[in-house]
Amino acid sequence: MKYSRIAGTGRYLPERVLTNAELETRVDTTDEWIRSRTGIERRHIAADDQTTADLAERAARQAMAAAGVTAADIDFVVVGTTTPDFVFPNVGCLVQERLGIRPCPAFSVEAACSGFIYALSIADRFVAGGSAKCALVIGAETLSRITDWTDRNTCVLFGDGAGAVILQPADEPGIMACHLGADGTYKDLLYHPYGASRRQQPGETEGPYIHMKGNEVFKVAVKTLEGIVETTLAASQLEASAIDWLIPHQANIRIIQATAKRLGMPMEKVVLTVQDQGNTSAASVPMALDVAVRDGRVKRGDLLLLEGFGGGFTWGSALIRY
Ligand code: COA
Repeated sequence: MKYSRIAGTGRYLPERVLTNAELETRVDTTDEWIRSRTGIERRHIAADDQTTADLAERAARQAMAAAGVTAADIDFVVVGTTTPDFVFPNVGCLVQERLGIRPCPAFSVEAACSGFIYALSIADRFVAGGSAKCALVIGAETLSRITDWTDRNTCVLFGDGAGAVILQPADEPGIMACHLGADGTYKDLLYHPYGASRRQQPGETEGPYIHMKGNEVFKVAVKTLEGIVETTLAASQLEASAIDWLIPHQANIRIIQATAKRLGMPMEKVVLTVQDQGNTSAASVPMALDVAVRDGRVKRGDLLLLEGFGGGFTWGSALIRY
């Protein structure tokens, strides 16, 4: 077997829903502005005692049930996240311990909103190459913890959640191709100013939150995503019309519409969750996949194009025969 395939999917959204109407009472914004500029209507926010690992664990359990596997089957764990519980142990290890998965590689990948695509691409290499037989791949975030709830430029955009897939070996693809990219010269357009190593310096006033030059991010995101979907299709010698479902990172409906338009894809073939979830970074693509699998839109044999773009900038795509 030289390929990997998605054997099951899962997701978890925290109970608490934060509506645009509620945000209107917190910052100088309107439901109309948020909907028309972003497509977002509501987002989910983790409870005070919930962490990224809690969300990841819930999504993982659902994906395992869908795939019909138990902890004993899993031999590889990778989590895309920008909001880990700790500096270490990584979220992969936390999930491994909670689920009772035996010793195996477990780690997290830090690639902002492209984190799940990066994680999937890595897991695919291990499963297709024969060094893992059952990989748990997760995208999980508690972006609400690094959001400045007094900044209308950013606080209307983000939400919390987790999505997961199980990858197993297959004779036929499965995951047909993954393309990853990054360009660190854009580091100042979208960033969090502090971390474990870089602390706030005397005189620095930026808060410990997501900072973004939204308008500029928007333009590069549209251009980059157009490029990556075209590269992916060309490398696989496929026309866009062969794609059954576009499953994009859910940052802004206008970015998604621009990508779909460039591909000549009707929006009916695009899975949209941004209205209900906001931008959940690394969690958005696996959650959108799970939504479409569970509501019956995505069926076995369908051709899927997953794509993501985020801080770094990082980007990636995955072409998948589901
Ligand atoms: N409510 C009301 N007005 C707001 C607002 C809000 N929540 N946020 C910003 N505004 C204002 C701005 O202050 C600006 O006012 P001004 O013209 O008086 O200065 C105006 O709206 C327009 O701002 P602009 O930044 O040009 O809007 P935009 O159409 O680019 O939309 C984003 C802003 C953030 C929604 C959009 O740029 C975007 O989605 N960018 C990409 C973000 C993203 O994808 N990030 C993650 C990548 S993974």
